[in-house]
Order: sequence, then C-alpha cells, then structure tokens
Amino acid sequence: MSVSMKSAREIELMREAGRLLSRVHDELGAAIRPGMSTLEIDRLGEKLIRSFGCVPNFLHYNGYPASICVSVNDEVVHGIPKKDRILEEGDIVSLDAGLIYKGYHSDAARTHGVGKISPQAQQLIEVTRQSFFEGIKMAREGCHLHDISNAIDAYVSRFGYGIVRDLVGHGIGTSLHEDPQIPNFAQKRKGVRLQAGMTLAVEPMINAGGWEVDFLNDGWTVVTRDGSLSAHYENTILVTGGEPEILTL
Ligand code: MF3
Ligand code: CO
Repeated sequence: MSVSMKSAREIELMREAGRLLSRVHDELGAAIRPGMSTLEIDRLGEKLIRSFGCVPNFLHYNGYPASICVSVNDEVVHGIPKKDRILEEGDIVSLDAGLIYKGYHSDAARTHGVGKISPQAQQLIEVTRQSFFEGIKMAREGCHLHDISNAIDAYVSRFGYGIVRDLVGHGIGTSLHEDPQIPNFAQKRKGVRLQAGMTLAVEPMINAGGWEVDFLNDGWTVVTRDGSLSAHYENTILVTGGEPEILTL
C-alpha cells in the first residue's frame, strides 16, 4: 500500500475540485422536494458538473450508469437514479457525487430529509454527519489512520446505530479511489501514520438498525439487511500540520 502525498500545485487543484463539488451539493440539496424523481436529481447534478467544465467521475465507473448515486431510506449507497422512483414526504435521501477538475477528483455525500421527516430519521442524519466531524478531529499529522475509524465508532456506538463494515472511505487524488482504505468502525491496528499533504475521503455510512447490508442484483444498490434507514455523510479532506482542511464544504 502506498499513500500519495500531494504537492502544493496538486492541492490547489484538489481545492478547486472540492469547491465546485460543494456547489453541486448545495444546489442539489436545495432542489430536493416530494414528487421529484431520483433521475431528475441525477440529471440536475450532471448538468451542474458539466457546466463547471468538469467530468462526473462516477458515470461509467465500473459500469455505474449515472453521475449521482441516489439512495432512498433503507438504501445505504450506490442507488441507481430512476425515472419512476419518486421521492415522498418523510423519505430520507442520500446523494453521493463526485467530479474531476483538471485531472483531480473530489467526492462527497449528504443525506437530506424530503419534506417533514420523523425525529428518528433526523437524529440518524445528524449523528452520521457529526460522526464525520468526530472522526476528522483525528485527521492530523502525527495521528494514525485508525484514530479516525476509532473516533467515528466511539461516537456512533453511543446511539446504538449500526456502522456499515462492507464499504469504507479512501484516499483520493488523480484517482477516485486511492490508498488507504478508511474503515468507519474500530480497528485493532493503528493504520498508517498521517502526514500533511494526504487527501482522504472520509465517509461514514450509518444504519438505524444493524450494520449488515445486502447487495441487490442490479449490481449496485446496497441496502440494510433489516430494512432500517441508513444515512451517509462524506467530504474530501486535506491532512495538514493542524486542523484538517475540508475541501468539499
Ligand atoms: N462515492 C463512492 C465512493 O466513495 C463512489 C461511487 S461508486 C460509483 O466510493 F460507481 F457509484 F460511482
Ligand atoms: Co467516497
């Protein structure tokens, strides 16, 4: 395993890739409403990405057929946008998006409520988001990779939620997925030592019920085994000598 360190020039490009992706997420989040199809979200996202002169990095990735992963309720990640999948009041919807700017990738995910949602769904979304921030407190030079994993696990476990184990965060740069893999659950080993200049996609996927997931035979959609709700929150970050820089906020 080798973790690439980004040069000052590369970091500038990653910053711009991240900044543009944060705009995509802001616009998509504002557009979510009951009655909208998941395909409309994908179309809007792809249009925005291309309007910035960027390329959607998910499109055709290992054959994935869309630009934005749209995962509703018990769908954890990699939901495929569809014309006849209509969002309803009370649903929660996870949007995972990424783009390439001048050869550099960004990757980020958000979970939104559709209209008014239950307090339970709201708490799941908030805990998932906060678990990312708890994790990246450890994303600093001198800490180890699994300090991030352990911090996410310690925080989420207080709420009794299930932490998805089959999918993990990752390094990112000139490829969408680079070393290292970043688990969101507690690890026995320390993992690599973090150094300034590493760029990471930290992405907890948290289930209201158990951690187990199933992979649907559409080849992509991941769902909770027990049918419970699932939320996802992800940003691309830069490790520095101090606080990490969040590139996609
Ligand atoms: N954002 C996802 C990740 O972090 C990538 C989606 S895979 C795709 O790994 F095929 F759907 F693009
Ligand atoms: Co990712």
